[in-house]
Amino acid sequence: MRRTRSKVTVRTYCYRGRHVESGRVPDLRRPPEQAVPRTARPHRRRQPASRGRPRLRPRHPHHGPGTLTTTLARRWPDARLIAIDSSAKMVAAARERGVEAEERAVQDWEPAADTDVVVSNAVLQWVPGHQDLLRRWATELPPGAWIAVQVPGNFGVPSHVLVRELVAEPEWHDRLEPVRLREEDAVLDPEGYADLMSTAGCAVDAWETTYVQRLTGRDAVLEWITGTALRPIRAALPDPDWTAFRTALAPRLAAAYPPRPDGTTWFPFRRVFFVARTP
Ligand SMILES: C[S@@+](CC[C@H](N)C(=O)[O-])C[C@H]1O[C@@H](n2cnc3c(N)ncnc32)[C@H](O)[C@@H]1O
Repeated sequence: MRRTRSKVTVRTYCYRGRHVESGRVPDLRRPPEQAVPRTARPHRRRQPASRGRPRLRPRHPHHGPGTLTTTLARRWPDARLIAIDSSAKMVAAARERGVEAEERAVQDWEPAADTDVVVSNAVLQWVPGHQDLLRRWATELPPGAWIAVQVPGNFGVPSHVLVRELVAEPEWHDRLEPVRLREEDAVLDPEGYADLMSTAGCAVDAWETTYVQRLTGRDAVLEWITGTALRPIRAALPDPDWTAFRTALAPRLAAAYPPRPDGTTWFPFRRVFFVARTP
């Protein structure tokens, strides 16, 4: 199955930080030191993020095989980057690419006093209660540090809802009882993250983007979610049951995401982003 990505179709901004109140919107393409004006900071025991040190120290606390971390290395060639992932396989893959990687759960990670940037891409949706984690980072990171987060924002759309509905049916309920599927509240809306980080004292810029992907092939959405949302179900079922589950799910997905006459299927994918700077 191939995937192409259309142009951005939806992009909504929530500006809740102090920089917004002052009427200024950060240019996130500029280096972090310049993007948001520094503001008066309360006395803290923490050390300033960059004072006296010429180098950034971004952390990417869920790195997968290291693809994004190597992109960050290109963005900040002089920085020391440390990647964190709970999967031994991903850590090994990242190390093979020359990434300094640690195997640990993000919940157990504590920022070092000289951390400048934390980048979390497509992981916090796996961490129930990650709002507490974000509040903790806002406190533990030095003043002026950055937190950049992306999470999928699609847990309320048919590709997830139809799976949860099928799992709840009597035929599957007992067999899949131990599987914990993520509900619609697995992540917040942009406004929720803006409020959370703003309340934690950060300047924050939050937004969402829906990428309309054009999938190809038969049962395109089923094939797509087999590699994502259905992984816990695949892991829980023996082969014949897995085949039966897919067979039951396929027509429901096809009705929600009908193939176009040319055989391709539109699959909108919403993602939620925020960038926050600690006070
Ligand atoms: C969708 S991948 C994203 C990988 C990478 N961040 C990227 O952008 O390519 C999700 C990753 O999160 C990791 N992960 C899931 N739960 C985690 C946790 N609690 N702590 C650390 N990593 C976790 C998985 O092992 C997986 O590599």
